Amino acid sequence: MPNIVIVGAQWGDEGKGKVVDALSAAADVVARYQGGPNAGHSIVRGGETVVLHLVPSGVMHPHPRCLIGNGVVIDLRRLREEVTRLEALGIVVGRRLGLSPAAHLILPYHGAVEAAAERGPGAIGTTGRGIGFAYRDKAARTGLRLADLFDREAFIARADRTLTRLRQEYPEATELQAMNGAVLYAALHDVAAWARPLVCDVGGELHAALGRGQRVLLEGAQGTLLDLDHGTYPYVTSSAASAAGAPLGVGLGPRAVDRVIGVTKAYTTRVGHGPFPSEMPETEATRLREAGEEYGATTGRPRRCGWLDLPALRYAARINGLDALVITKLDVLDGFERIRVVTAYDGEDPARGGFSADARALERCRPVWRDFPGWLAPTTSARRWGDLPGPARQYLEWIERECGVAIQSVSVGAGREAEVSRS
Ligand code: GDP
Ligand code: IMO
Ligand code: MG
Repeated sequence: MPNIVIVGAQWGDEGKGKVVDALSAAADVVARYQGGPNAGHSIVRGGETVVLHLVPSGVMHPHPRCLIGNGVVIDLRRLREEVTRLEALGIVVGRRLGLSPAAHLILPYHGAVEAAAERGPGAIGTTGRGIGFAYRDKAARTGLRLADLFDREAFIARADRTLTRLRQEYPEATELQAMNGAVLYAALHDVAAWARPLVCDVGGELHAALGRGQRVLLEGAQGTLLDLDHGTYPYVTSSAASAAGAPLGVGLGPRAVDRVIGVTKAYTTRVGHGPFPSEMPETEATRLREAGEEYGATTGRPRRCGWLDLPALRYAARINGLDALVITKLDVLDGFERIRVVTAYDGEDPARGGFSADARALERCRPVWRDFPGWLAPTTSARRWGDLPGPARQYLEWIERECGVAIQSVSVGAGREAEVSRS
């Protein structure tokens, strides 16, 4: 296990946190490469659920170094709160955490303009964490990075220029009126002093770790179908959530990645607006939502629920170059008499490879369904392949064949122990 990328193969919330936590038992370094506190990665430890938003999921084990790469956008106050919450639970973070000085900061004005934008006609259904506007400033070269916190005059001047522009662009964002660079800087003074000793050369450290033969995990947030380039634009997040974003977002070259693992639920969920061809009718969705506790880990919003979408999963396998799949939440389907899958979209052009990330085309597509018999038996205590009911194995083996990607393991419960290895 030298350098593994763990990536969401759907629209997020696939169970990446659980998978990273499991693999972290044998990892030396775990790094986040994109996204920010829009992520909510849940880990169940001894019956208690811990939700991580910015801190890498390796933190639940005592030894791994936990790095936040240049591709991440950081809300420093939220980060410190998260670390404080973890330490109160007895999870020692301390100097195990390292932050790239090139990571951009999410500042209060990003949240204020996002709230205004989300009240308008172009609403995406974001998590409200200021993500899109922080990445917008990054791309426009008007952002402030962690390193900029340590140059007071430059920070204040740049923040004031951005505020002047945003007030003109979003006059309805009245919170902007009271903001100015000096006040923002002063409000960050404490937390900047807290963060300063954590700043490190993330890419350099990872390069050195790999050179020593250490084991590295690069933890994706969101999912492939929320990727800024390859997802269902504009109903996406604002970062490179797919595997190609991993080396970029931590300062490594593409050859530094040895293995890419895609995480998918045995069905599909989505939070926020945008096309969802395999979405269920509401009565069925309600049943699945309750069985799978499908409420957002960051916002508490009910997740939209649907069946597995094979064209989308094949697309994720291609975009990420998946070496293996981890299938989660199989147990949630235990009580369903009939398991449905979208196998194709009617009228799809096979030359285009099935799934289209074109949101308009996806809205129009007519899904082709296949039904599998449910297994109607509990799977939570299964630990070996042979422990799974026959119909469940047939369903999983069919997914494996149709995607052309080997299943590495199947998760059958939220706890660490609830895992079935394929071999
Ligand atoms: P992430 O964002 O990809 O890390 O996923 P989330 O943590 O947002 O959502 C996954 C949810 O499913 C969390 O509440 C997990 O504790 C839970 N979970 C993960 N794997 C399983 C599983 O195999 N079975 C069940 N029942 N719950 C699971
Ligand atoms: P994890 O890492 C599920 C969705 C939002 C919205 C869109 C844009 O826990 O899987 P943003 O706030 O990023 O600008 O919102 O992306 N979204 C997620 N959905 N899981 C996530 O993260 C998500 N992060 C963002 O709901 O549709
Ligand atoms: Mg989540």
